[in-house]
Amino acid sequence: MAQRPLNVGLVGGGRGAFIVHPHQRAIHFDGTRRVVAGALFPDPKIALEEAEKWPYPIRGYGSYDEMIAANKDLPEDQKLDYILIVTPNHVHFDPAMKALKAGIAVFCEKPLCLNLKEATELVKAVRKTKIPFGVAHTYLGHWTSRLARYIVRKGLIGEVRWVDSYYLQGWLATKLEDTGLQQAVWRTNPKMAGGSGCGGDIGTHALMQLRYVTGLEVTHVSAQLETFVEGRALDDHFTVYCKLSNGGRALVRASQVCIGHKNDLGIIVAGTKGTVEWRQEEPERLVVHLPNQPDRVYWRGAIAAGDGFLPKDEALEALLKEPTIPSGHPEAFHDAFARLHRFFEADVRKWKAGEPFSCDGSNYANVADGWMGIAFIETCLKSSAKKGAWTPMPKPITV
Ligand SMILES: NC(=O)c1ccc[n+]([C@@H]2O[C@H](COP(=O)([O-])OP(=O)(O)OC[C@H]3O[C@@H](n4cnc5c(N)ncnc54)[C@H](O)[C@@H]3O)[C@@H](O)[C@H]2O)c1
Repeated sequence: MAQRPLNVGLVGGGRGAFIVHPHQRAIHFDGTRRVVAGALFPDPKIALEEAEKWPYPIRGYGSYDEMIAANKDLPEDQKLDYILIVTPNHVHFDPAMKALKAGIAVFCEKPLCLNLKEATELVKAVRKTKIPFGVAHTYLGHWTSRLARYIVRKGLIGEVRWVDSYYLQGWLATKLEDTGLQQAVWRTNPKMAGGSGCGGDIGTHALMQLRYVTGLEVTHVSAQLETFVEGRALDDHFTVYCKLSNGGRALVRASQVCIGHKNDLGIIVAGTKGTVEWRQEEPERLVVHLPNQPDRVYWRGAIAAGDGFLPKDEALEALLKEPTIPSGHPEAFHDAFARLHRFFEADVRKWKAGEPFSCDGSNYANVADGWMGIAFIETCLKSSAKKGAWTPMPKPITV
């Protein structure tokens, strides 16, 4: 008989919230996970009203404290298997810590939290409790991101010399926060967003994409955090030149004032034998450039091992066997989220069964990746304050 779906509790998501919706669709994508509860808003009365209005029945709670505390007394089949944290950045640390202490797995939005002190405490708590913890770096969930990672890490484009990892947006090119739009208000408030606006919000995605695809770490940064919109408290433009752990170089850049660019995240990895390029706004295609050859354009779903560039090996065969739909029926943002939740579900099920689980960052970002994102932002803030002086990153950690 099929196992019961995993039960997910939401922290945040009421009244005009954004990212909860792609997540909740992705949670229900396979029928093996479902949202059963939520603490959807900071005001307890509104939180309960929002739960009543949810598109399908869920248990509403006045606060995440109540939701986490109530869990231990629920019948086994109603207990939460994991919580999803989709609140602004200043409300990540507290619910995550409380869930870990209550023995509940956590899938948390990025950036992990507000600062390195909080991030370090979370890493310690995960190490101590040995509970699965995922961080929602969406773009790792695209099948083509996984193919890019395979190609680069397998050495098919040689040694990595140069990476351009970027995330360009234009939606904050005016002082949108003054209109009261909630997503703009908290993202430009240092108490709610953290020390960097653009860097924390989308520069962390660009960093994660670089680390995931190449397996390289940033060792030193020379950063310029700039604010183009007058009166804004945080950077809206983020440019970081990086030294990589293999001696290569990278540009990690993000902008919220680049009019016309919507969610233009992409990566160019230039190696000694070729270059790989991928953009999330065209997520089904990955381009490989080889010297003196026509470009190879790989479409998800229309790829075979042993084609003269892609070898035949177990890792690629496993990647090709992953469930996707036929090529030409486009996969996109929701599919990427679903893939992250699918892999997280597998780890949560193993953990609950007392079996070893990986949570090693190969299928979704983990708490150590979240920590690296925060370490990167803090190091960039230091470098920028010294006019872009080369500044060393803390040593990478694992869970
Ligand atoms: N992975 C991605 O691609 C991606 C995209 C967008 C946002 N995000 C991240 O997701 C998080 C949320 O961003 P958003 O744009 O959806 O924000 P949002 O403002 O649209 O939604 C935040 C929600 O949190 C609720 N909330 C705030 N404090 C709360 C509390 N104490 N208890 C319960 N609920 C509370 C708000 O009422 C709202 O429902 C942020 O950390 C952001 O960086 C990630």
